[in-house]
Amino acid sequence: MLSDSSGTSVATPEDIMTSQGLVSFIDASPTPFHAVAESRRRLEAEGFSFMPETASWHVEPGGRYYTVRNDSSLIAFVVGKYSGELSFRIACAHVDSPALRIKQVKELTGPGSYVRLNVEEYGSLIERSWLDRPLSVAGRALVREDGRIRSRLVMLDREALIIPSVAIHLNRAVNDGVALNRQVDLCPLLAAGGGGRLADETPKGEASLDSLVAHKLGVDVEQLLACDLIVCNRQQPVVWGAGGEFISAPRLDDLQCAYALLEGFLAASDKCATLDGGVSVLCLLDHEEVGSRTMKGAQSTFVSDVLQRIAYRADPTPEGLQCALRRSFMVSSDNAHATHPNHPELSDEGNRVWLNGGIVIKENAQQRYATDALSRAFFSEICRRANVPVQHYANRSDITCGSTIGNMLASELGVLTVDVGAPQLAMHSAFETAGMLDTDYLTRAFAAYFAVTHTLEPDGSILFFA
Ligand code: CO
Repeated sequence: MLSDSSGTSVATPEDIMTSQGLVSFIDASPTPFHAVAESRRRLEAEGFSFMPETASWHVEPGGRYYTVRNDSSLIAFVVGKYSGELSFRIACAHVDSPALRIKQVKELTGPGSYVRLNVEEYGSLIERSWLDRPLSVAGRALVREDGRIRSRLVMLDREALIIPSVAIHLNRAVNDGVALNRQVDLCPLLAAGGGGRLADETPKGEASLDSLVAHKLGVDVEQLLACDLIVCNRQQPVVWGAGGEFISAPRLDDLQCAYALLEGFLAASDKCATLDGGVSVLCLLDHEEVGSRTMKGAQSTFVSDVLQRIAYRADPTPEGLQCALRRSFMVSSDNAHATHPNHPELSDEGNRVWLNGGIVIKENAQQRYATDALSRAFFSEICRRANVPVQHYANRSDITCGSTIGNMLASELGVLTVDVGAPQLAMHSAFETAGMLDTDYLTRAFAAYFAVTHTLEPDGSILFFA
């Protein structure tokens, strides 16, 4: 950030470029399915080849590949030369965000002729942030087409829903911290019903979500077999503040990290393809917000299956994978809580972090974060070399720490891991806030991480090769 003549800070063209990239990524990614599709598009454009998990892999030195599990988790990797000892430089982020998931029988009819959607919470969201806000629907639909069942992405390209709050005159206690009932208070209103005038694209007389989805996909309602749909916020991200120092958007947790990881990974991929022994691995995973124990989350076999297949091609001895994992390193990237302007007391007195203050390294004695002194020292050194400022985060000791995917993957794989992220405010709100500079800091730190070869020596030290 620069200072203008009035002394207020303004973002540089680089910051604005990075933010525009982030904005496009968030816009294109209302659901994990869309985030994976958008990442695939970027990877394909950079020459990465798709390798389905269902086929045998022929991984070549210098090759760039990616695979996908069930359309909402993705792993991409660049293979270096096979000349050195095999090790992995892994980095991961999650692509799901808290939302309202639409149940399979989608509509609630009434009272009167209203049509509402029947939803349940996905992850822990700040419920009141979803009220009185134009909302839409996105996800995937399974469609009977040409004698097969096809998976199609869908995003209604307009606002179709609002969850109206109760007027203060009908609930005088509304400002007294009244809890919302998840079955009752969060049902979005879809249609007036009973002959209410519908938008042009709605087939006449049908106020059902299925008809909107089918219309959007250009198929008949009868062809829709099943859907994974969520209520999503299409609000455009905004850059704001006296000097344009803040950016607010839906899903910054964790698309800000996912975007920066993808950018850093792509920026380093030419270099990665020439490095001795190392394989750079990018993991974008679904289901973090609901605990990751699913067929494609961080507690699934997805990451270990992929690493095993890569290792087998480079070193097919029985110990090949184990030796490689013990030499490897992982960066788990998920956003961190910046100090709140109205509630600084919620942050630890010493380990506070600030928007635009740089990449955050997170620690927790209960090991909700996987960082230890060795992984902290290593990643701090990467950031120092990349000229990226580092901040240190720990929870207040009397507040329970959240968790993320780092410790799950670290315990599953036995890989030295650091937990990092960008500082942000209002985590799990429908509209979250971050600093304009931090996406660029993340991207540069990740690019530097992927572009360096290192090894963990048997004596416990870390040796840098480049
Ligand atoms: Co997160």
